[in-house]
Amino acid sequence: MCGIVGYIGNREAKDVIIKGLKRLEYRGYDSAGIALIDSNEIHIYKKQGKVADLENFIKDKNTAGNIGMGHTRWATHGEPNDINAHPHFSQSKKLAIIHNGIIENYATLKKELEQKGHTFFSQTDTEVFIHFIEDIWENVGCSLEEAVRLSMTQVVGAYAIVILSADYPDQLIAARKGSPLVIGIGKNQEEYFIASDATPIIEYTQEVIYLNDEELAIIKGKELTIKSIQDTLIAPYVQTIDMQLEEIEKGGYDFFMLKEIFEQPNSIRDCLRGRLIPDKDHVALGGIRKYFSNVINAQRFIIVGCGTSWHAGLVAEYIIEEFTRIPVEVEYASEFRYRNPIIHKGDVVIAISQSGETADTLAAIELAKSRGAIILGICNVVGSSIARASHEGAYTHAGPEIGVASTKAFTAQLAVLSLFALMVAKAKGTLSIFQLRDLMRELDQIPEKVAETLKINPQIQHISSVFKDAHNFLYLGRGYNFPVALEGALKLKEISYIHAEGYPAAEMKHGPIALIDEQMPVCFIATRDSSYDKIVSNIQEVKARKGKVIAIVTKGDTLIPKMVDYVIEIPYTAEAFMPILAVIPLQLLAYHIAVMRGCNVDQPRNLAKSVTVE
Ligand code: G6P
Repeated sequence: MCGIVGYIGNREAKDVIIKGLKRLEYRGYDSAGIALIDSNEIHIYKKQGKVADLENFIKDKNTAGNIGMGHTRWATHGEPNDINAHPHFSQSKKLAIIHNGIIENYATLKKELEQKGHTFFSQTDTEVFIHFIEDIWENVGCSLEEAVRLSMTQVVGAYAIVILSADYPDQLIAARKGSPLVIGIGKNQEEYFIASDATPIIEYTQEVIYLNDEELAIIKGKELTIKSIQDTLIAPYVQTIDMQLEEIEKGGYDFFMLKEIFEQPNSIRDCLRGRLIPDKDHVALGGIRKYFSNVINAQRFIIVGCGTSWHAGLVAEYIIEEFTRIPVEVEYASEFRYRNPIIHKGDVVIAISQSGETADTLAAIELAKSRGAIILGICNVVGSSIARASHEGAYTHAGPEIGVASTKAFTAQLAVLSLFALMVAKAKGTLSIFQLRDLMRELDQIPEKVAETLKINPQIQHISSVFKDAHNFLYLGRGYNFPVALEGALKLKEISYIHAEGYPAAEMKHGPIALIDEQMPVCFIATRDSSYDKIVSNIQEVKARKGKVIAIVTKGDTLIPKMVDYVIEIPYTAEAFMPILAVIPLQLLAYHIAVMRGCNVDQPRNLAKSVTVE
């Protein structure tokens, strides 16, 4: 949700910033802007639209300089236009700010500042923030960094900010609360990079510092100081990140989403590596040790997440309950946090998040923690806020996911949650050793089966061409495949803007069946499992009403192909792991339909990958 980049060093700041913003564009693409300093004056250039529009706009402008910052926006306060685009000036134009997050008390602050004579040009909370900082700076007569620190004690909300000052053309000040911020340290500490995540940084350095909540970083020339909001000095904790440039480039694919779909055999293999060795009866998540006794003795698990991660939680509910016989509740993080949930000391809460930055999930964790729960974080982004806020957890190791619609992160989440369920079942003895071994072997073979599933791509392309102009789509599944239906519908909605709904197949007769006519494509996930016979009846109910049926079936099925319009065969696996295979044709279907409709698959309208606002 908004991407921010800052640079100070010997390079052309503009080049580093524009490149960095392009890497962060998945976080929002309503507008983009840049601020640079030349002759003790801040120059701001900003434009509605994508970073490429900004790049075009500044082609013939004076963009020289070795210090600057840039922003790519996902609009919260104020419509996406040139004026509301960041950076924003302070009243005197001596300061400029970029911001990711929301300032909740901005209206009160704005009123007070207006009474003092401040004039605002935009509708943003961000402009209020920088005016407020300047007001403190002028009236308290302190240093700029002190003014930033004092402002942090008074603003309410979430932010990651970077501030430039015309009076100090060799200084960048950055601060965070609730929104992520990473500082990259260049060779010999001769340059510094600031960004919302590490992707704009790894081209230049692997050495990074993740700023913690309520900390501010002051970079003066080659010197970096980190302070807390209480004004204590913090010794920087420098980490080396293990991310390669190729991982964040398209590598010949038209879109990141397609690349990420095809990466799944490898990403799942990476996720299972070392954690699952069927021949040795070994299944373990190294990051869940200290609290493992809480886990196996838990009376119930509560899973929280948003979007696709919530869908992974729904699948996990089936897997964990079946394997471990421990009850599971799955909740939207946004609902959980606002309904005064009953949490007992020692309850185990599993938070699932690709980005590790989703504001609602983070807030749900904080609430559960404050009531004594143990938090296990299942995150993809290493060092992310949720990973750090959790007591223990497991990374999904899917590698950077850049397409806004989540694909490989989802299947990696399912793989980790399957490992978790097996590991708990083994410790509790809720599965026999034979069942356990069978399941371990099945899970181990999933990467190969995913690779086999991907071979259906040309067939899905054909089916997509048939349905690309549909106005509605229904996805139906039962049991383990019900959350897959939800995920399939979400993928289509997100990137092709076709209205789609996922439903438990049996629920169809309580409403959605009224929608079915010869125009209505209905996608059944009808693999060979315990509810197969029931879903066959549901398919017949749709066919009887002339719906167009696409069925995802287990290879070798001879019954369903005779009943439906289009068949997609996927390999057999254990029922619990079927969602990992079954979701793949749905990812491809959404992808091809979106491409055929001319949609920007990686950056669908109004969406952002990392939702750091509530
Ligand atoms: C956004 C993304 C989704 C993602 C959801 C939760 O809506 O567009 O792809 O599933 O946030 O994000 P998280 O990073 O917590 O998994």
